[in-house]
Amino acid sequence: MIKQYCGQSGQSGQSGQSGRRPAGSLREKQNFGDGSMKILLVGSGGREHALAWKISQSKHCSQLFCAPGNPGIRNATPVLANTPEDLANFARLNKIDLTMVGPEALLCAGIVDHFCELGLRIVGPDKRAAQLEGSKSFAKDFMHRHGLPTAKAEVFDEEKPALKYLRKQSLPIVIKADGLAAGKGVIVAESMAQAEQAVRGCFAGSFGEAGYRVLIEEHLIGEEVSILALCDSESILPLASSQDHKRAEDGDLGPNTGGMGAYSPAPIVDQAMAQTIDRQILQPFLRGVQKDLLYFRGIIYAGLMLTAEGPKLLEFNVRFGDPETQAILPRLNSDLLEALWATADGRLHEIKLDWKEEPAVCVVMASKGYPGKFERGFEISGIEAAEAKGALVFHAGTKAQDGKLYTAGGRVLGVTALGKTLADAVENTYAAVREISWQGANYRKDIAHRALKR
Ligand code: AMP
Ligand code: GLY
Repeated sequence: MIKQYCGQSGQSGQSGQSGRRPAGSLREKQNFGDGSMKILLVGSGGREHALAWKISQSKHCSQLFCAPGNPGIRNATPVLANTPEDLANFARLNKIDLTMVGPEALLCAGIVDHFCELGLRIVGPDKRAAQLEGSKSFAKDFMHRHGLPTAKAEVFDEEKPALKYLRKQSLPIVIKADGLAAGKGVIVAESMAQAEQAVRGCFAGSFGEAGYRVLIEEHLIGEEVSILALCDSESILPLASSQDHKRAEDGDLGPNTGGMGAYSPAPIVDQAMAQTIDRQILQPFLRGVQKDLLYFRGIIYAGLMLTAEGPKLLEFNVRFGDPETQAILPRLNSDLLEALWATADGRLHEIKLDWKEEPAVCVVMASKGYPGKFERGFEISGIEAAEAKGALVFHAGTKAQDGKLYTAGGRVLGVTALGKTLADAVENTYAAVREISWQGANYRKDIAHRALKR
């Protein structure tokens, strides 16, 4: 049983089932619970705003730092550091007690390894374990070796054999760039011409280095759900289920985006399905982490397709999903900081999470043109009116200037409301969304449409 987190003082090398960690001088804070914790949150999107909102409610949090944060996160001290090295130095110099990382890029770049070397407490997988998101072929290999159900796929490092294999497959077929591609590296091709173009595009550098290895994957049919779980390599604790809406337009049409809205819970994940997911996905994941000696004390996000043959993995992410987090956290009664702290310390088995029964719906308001080209700098109005209706308004791409708020990104705001029923939550959310405006504001009108039809 691992009782300490990474960088355990005076020890080096093997740390039980949690993988190898470098030695470091551990600054153990014994007095958790005295309300004096200094927390560093890394990231700037809607997910981080939701995390900041929830973490700052904890009775243990005395000061929240955000690197860099966003204009919606008002109760945090902004931090400019943005590399793993600089963030670890900042945490050391400022005696940060716990660091929470939002974006995958920093996890894949090894931010956890840097913190561990300095004996600093951080939530997340180390660089090797972060490849579960950072390399789709690494993730596939992990799934195959540990018996996690997933779509059949072949991996190619060269164009010619990839095209030869592709031509023997039936349509639709899915082409995936191996590495991180900001959610754009997956092409669901309906025609062979489109599939060939996708393969050629990858090897020609459309996704940079991320695309020089390509997966050609069987197309799965079913409903998608996101299952996020805390994992400390010793145990795994699922959060409430949720469903994202990845396509840009109503009716799940148009290009893939980072996510246009989400709701929680996903009614398709009833008790029986939750048990199936635990048995077929989460427990085998945990056993795989242990067998491979991966250092994983963070959030695992299983992107699932619920097929006629049962749940199958589409992907892993190694962090909170966005916008899922904006729909999930408003339903959490428990202290998130306690759960994150226990995850980082390898005491997750002590944590129980209590959820509100009420469903939550998050609608993402985006700039006209997103996920393609869009303009920035339009003044935003109506946020107070939306909040007065009881909604939470999370900032994702905004800029404050001279007391006014302007658009500054593709996804601009996430608006979340709860309701007695899912239909009420949808109505409450859209009532708040309609209060907010800027030139070219765009959002899907049908978030939760599938669940409402059930
Ligand atoms: P990913 O980044 O792997 O989750 O892929 C992005 C989106 O592409 C997913 O949310 C699915 O909608 C779709 N997708 C990915 N893989 C498959 C697959 N094997 N079959 C069908 N759709 C897929
Ligand atoms: N909502 C999908 C993601 O966070 O990647």
